[in-house]
Amino acid sequence: MSGRLAGKVAIVTGSGSGIGKSIAIRLANEGASIVVDYRNHIEQAQDTKSKVEAAGSKAILVPADVSVLSDTQNLVDQAYKQLGRCDILVNNAGIEIEAPFWEVTEKDYDAVLNVNLKGAFFLAQAFVRRLRDAKLPGRIINISSVHEDMVFPNFSTYCASKGGMRMLMRDLAVELGPLGITVNNIAPGAIATPINAKMMDNKAQLDALLKNIPLGRMGTPEEVAGLALFLASDDGAYCTGSTFIIDGGLIRNYHEQ
Ligand code: BGC
Repeated sequence: MSGRLAGKVAIVTGSGSGIGKSIAIRLANEGASIVVDYRNHIEQAQDTKSKVEAAGSKAILVPADVSVLSDTQNLVDQAYKQLGRCDILVNNAGIEIEAPFWEVTEKDYDAVLNVNLKGAFFLAQAFVRRLRDAKLPGRIINISSVHEDMVFPNFSTYCASKGGMRMLMRDLAVELGPLGITVNNIAPGAIATPINAKMMDNKAQLDALLKNIPLGRMGTPEEVAGLALFLASDDGAYCTGSTFIIDGGLIRNYHEQ
């Protein structure tokens, strides 16, 4: 298999749908074998696997709840066991729960923080330990959000998780640079994926959002995948410690009304 990622293996969490699915397929198009991670919907993950295979690459399906440490460890173990190595980690799995701050429950807080931040943290740790032991380089790409920086009223848990992801990335870039491991965040704005399905079905809400986006439209998962490919490939070799915003200009132009 030729391509910019020939011979590489990538774990993409949450790759059954949305941005994760597009990233899995895009990396596979460039020759990477993919660990397709999913939590609940095996049929979606199987569809990603078929598309990876149609691109001429290998895929394995590994179920994981990334908020469970043993599941994150297993994702890395399966990459080595079934595909022989693991070069690229894309921490994409993420959830959001809308609630005014005063109504946030402990359960919702734990759900969002554990998937979005704890999951990315410990999966990166499992990924890095193997590379460190083998003295091999690697790439960590976190799918963060414009909300690692920009307010998102009624999504305080989501903002806390993505703000945490921003500082985690910066810290790891410094700690892992000497090991040859790069760490970057991609901060998407409003992308047409299942996480935004409810909003996209509400015309008034969608129109209000589109007014805030200078390019006047939502982004596509494929556009985000193109940026992930850049960061995973040789072209992105000198990038570390940065957030790459992909939002049609939203972050520069946010209004509530
Ligand atoms: C959120 C979306 C939101 C977008 C722009 C994303 O991180 O997941 O729900 O529409 O940011 O505000």
